[in-house]
Amino acid sequence: MRSIAEQTVEELGGPGSVLARQREDHVELDRLLQELAGSTGSAQEEEVLRRIDRLVFSHAFAEETVLWPVLRRVLPDGDALTLRVEKEHQEVNELVSALETGGPDDPRRPARLARLVEVLREDVRDEEDVLLPRLQEAVPADELRRLGRRWELMRRLSPTRPHPTVSRRPPGNALSGLPLSILDRTRDAVDAGVRRAPAQLAPAGAALSKGLATLAGLVERVPLSRSGDRPPTSR
Ligand SMILES: [Fe+2]
Repeated sequence: MRSIAEQTVEELGGPGSVLARQREDHVELDRLLQELAGSTGSAQEEEVLRRIDRLVFSHAFAEETVLWPVLRRVLPDGDALTLRVEKEHQEVNELVSALETGGPDDPRRPARLARLVEVLREDVRDEEDVLLPRLQEAVPADELRRLGRRWELMRRLSPTRPHPTVSRRPPGNALSGLPLSILDRTRDAVDAGVRRAPAQLAPAGAALSKGLATLAGLVERVPLSRSGDRPPTSR
């Protein structure tokens, strides 16, 4: 079994294969983590973190709704394998939420940031060296390309912010994904507007963003959003 990090795009099933698409995102994440390490000042750090969030949460959400259920179906040890990465994803959700709540001056911030980088790197290694090669062994290349299309579509419809209370497994994540995605992406647009807006409009934008965050918190907490979760990843 070879890591997908060491294979050519052809070996992965072509550029549309879910394995090639996954690796592309992981390379982009690595680039952003290096940028984070080199960032100076909290404003710059915050800006890189937002880009990491937008990449990571939609990427992982689509894995949890599209890919891991397939692994559980085709591999005898699929449940244990996927639970391991779901725990990593849960920790990422909790760390980013804590970073947001704590703000830039929280004394726990440096330790949380360091742990976030560490878990993200562990997660990529688990996927590229173990889970995805096992998927590659278990299904034919045309299925890898079909999964690539489904994963890509789901990624575009997925939330872009942390939601630690939502189930890491279907049906909870699949059911809450679309409303949370709409709320998150609207909030992303509002926040980007606030950064460019004249000073007198910024408070209204910030209030709208906070309102959207409150709504997302409500969607997260309805029992349907939590259904399907396993005890190690439920909060
Ligand atoms: Fe991934």
